[in-house]
Amino acid sequence: MSDERPIGVFDSGVGGLTVFREVMRRVPNEKLIYFGDTARLPYGTKSRDTVLGFARQIVRFLKTHDVKAIVVACNTASAYALDVIEQEEDIPFIGVVKPGAKVAAAATKNGRIGVIATTGTIKSGLYTDYIHSIDGSIKVFGKDCPLFVPLVEEGWFHDSVTKEVASRYLNELKGEFIDTLILGCTHYPLLRRTIAEEMGEDVTLVNPAYETALGLKAMLAEHGLEAAPKEQRPHHEFYVSDAAERFLTFAQAVLACELDSTAVVDIERY
Ligand code: DGL
Repeated sequence: MSDERPIGVFDSGVGGLTVFREVMRRVPNEKLIYFGDTARLPYGTKSRDTVLGFARQIVRFLKTHDVKAIVVACNTASAYALDVIEQEEDIPFIGVVKPGAKVAAAATKNGRIGVIATTGTIKSGLYTDYIHSIDGSIKVFGKDCPLFVPLVEEGWFHDSVTKEVASRYLNELKGEFIDTLILGCTHYPLLRRTIAEEMGEDVTLVNPAYETALGLKAMLAEHGLEAAPKEQRPHHEFYVSDAAERFLTFAQAVLACELDSTAVVDIERY
């Protein structure tokens, strides 16, 4: 028996598209519904209660599309809201923090991992908690990089300003002799080249999106929720809370494919 209901994927903005891209690759038969909360971004500087309230509204919106599972493609929402919403809802969820922690713990050779993320994710301490639940001897060094999110939303992936900002943020981590760095915000993989140049080739960059997509595949199989094989790519749907045109142009560039449309949703109604 196959299940043709869609899967919800959400983030504060365009960052979650880096997860969407991997999900499309790993579960190509699944129809996806993306929501980017472009009107209320950034999440990373907001309180736990505010982010939880936003996440609850988005889940209610996605459920109007009869989603069978939800990918929280935002580290801040994964850190602040996932544990609560998965208790409240009757469908399975997967976030990005746990998969990222798992990959990094397996990748480090010298037991020194850096995490770059939003202020909220770093404050939550969740990456450190998950890594320590795997191996308590690993040292974890967190650094919030709040300016990375607006730089990505502006499309300044490899710009002299971005390089300068990266150099200031990452300098502190360089002194900690980490050999692994988690890109702990879904916007940051779009700055991968700049971050890699700054950290040098001895540091392995971990993008939690790959493991998250694998985790989603396993979760669908475990719950008997897989869609049937298809000849053509399913018709994915995109929604935002503001500035749909801008999002569409960005999404087409990140996903490297033509998308039909993006609609604006008044998310405060949910
Ligand atoms: N992309 C989001 C994350 O992974 C948050 C960016 C923001 O809204 O601050 O945390």
